[in-house]
Amino acid sequence: MRIAFIGDIVGRPGRDILKSYLAKIKEEHQIDFVIANYENASHGFGLTLKNANELVSYGIDVMSGGNHTWDKKDIIPLFETHELLRPHNYPDGVPGTGCKTYEVAGEKLAVLNLMGHFSMPMCDNAFRCAQSTVEALQEDGVENIFIDFHAEATSEKRGMMMLLQGKVSGIIGTHTHVSTDDFQVTQGTAYLSDIGLTGCRDNVIGMDEKVPLKQFLTGMRGHFDIPKKCKKILQIAVMDINAGKCTKAFKLKQFDDGKCLKTDAWVEE
Ligand code: FE2
Repeated sequence: MRIAFIGDIVGRPGRDILKSYLAKIKEEHQIDFVIANYENASHGFGLTLKNANELVSYGIDVMSGGNHTWDKKDIIPLFETHELLRPHNYPDGVPGTGCKTYEVAGEKLAVLNLMGHFSMPMCDNAFRCAQSTVEALQEDGVENIFIDFHAEATSEKRGMMMLLQGKVSGIIGTHTHVSTDDFQVTQGTAYLSDIGLTGCRDNVIGMDEKVPLKQFLTGMRGHFDIPKKCKKILQIAVMDINAGKCTKAFKLKQFDDGKCLKTDAWVEE
């Protein structure tokens, strides 16, 4: 199967560039299944029903979340009606789930959403949750497992990679909105510390720079806003998975001026 992953979709600019390019990318690269992170999709904070439907109509099959999952009150009923996840390591009793299994190209694919610890809300241990969930999936005969690890610290992301390499098909980080340059496939596990945002690319992590700059210059906090006009980028990782192992991966950076950069992941045993 060939799957693709899109990180934090930030506001209308992120939704708009997906509308313009996602169907074309899916067709050109013969992608079977698309996973994307929704947590900033509605004006930077959470996800509304309207925007969930919009993103599904652009060709996204399942959406994962993070620390902003709960920012819009629409989200709780959406767990029943849409293919949405929230980090699996939220405590027992929290609405929704962070792990679902799908039928893709005649095989099972599990999508697992986890959240890290540094600078994140109180939640259960992501590493123990990952271990026990992956073991349970494998006992159920699910070989193909993809993880969106929503975390601030690259050290936590590398730690998750070292814990699960050879055991899952892919681990890609989200949350920082800034892409890293370490896409690799080791022991059949694709890994990228952070895929980076899909949205505005000429501001501060997809947000209008005025408020963050005021905050950095004065220490006074404010409410971040999505720019009305900006240059945009769509960042998408594509992975070929066979019998639980990733065999090939690449990343596309699609710019709103039509340019597209492709980078192959480094592959080793
Ligand atoms: Fe986040």
